[in-house]
Amino acid sequence: MLLIIKFIVNHTNSQFGIRTAAADRRRSGTTTKMDDIQNREDIELLVNNFYERVHNEPNLAPVFEMPQEHWQTHISRVINFWENWLFQTGSYNGGMMWVHLQANEKNSLTTERFEQWLALWFLTTDSLFAGERADFVKSKALEIGQIMNAKFNSKS
Ligand code: HEM
Repeated sequence: MLLIIKFIVNHTNSQFGIRTAAADRRRSGTTTKMDDIQNREDIELLVNNFYERVHNEPNLAPVFEMPQEHWQTHISRVINFWENWLFQTGSYNGGMMWVHLQANEKNSLTTERFEQWLALWFLTTDSLFAGERADFVKSKALEIGQIMNAKFNSKS
């Protein structure tokens, strides 16, 4: 089944009250256009902003409730995952499908949750970065989201 995703194109950080270094730079006029993702630090910014939004989404937040030390590990693994895709660092050692199978057993990863997750990922990426790498992290997440959604939620 295809995901129906509402791509939110026009938005501002103030909508969510999130302050970021990149957004502050733009507000203060020190950058005229948005930069692309350049390094691990940018990925950290992206991932941390994304999860701030996830925690404010009542339908998604419960899935990510975990002890603080587990949370730190999770964040590093997600950052490694994207760093590996974008900069071929070899820093991610795989197993993401298994991780989501486990997550799906605990809290159903419904189509609605996939749509919300992806909408927030697109929104966060677009609020911070623009360029080929920003496009890549959106299209790769969409591709993976569609595969997982088909696996967990197809009727047949
Ligand atoms: C309904 C949507 C989704 C939910 C609720 C969800 C939830 C989760 C959860 C609960 C974990 C495990 C956290 C832990 O216990 O360490 C996880 C890991 C992860 N998720 Fe998702 N996820 C979703 C969609 C996606 C998508 C579309 C991607 C695409 C990139 C993705 C990328 C990852 C990565 C890279 C990890 C770390 C895997 C690892 O530890 O090896 N997730 N996710």
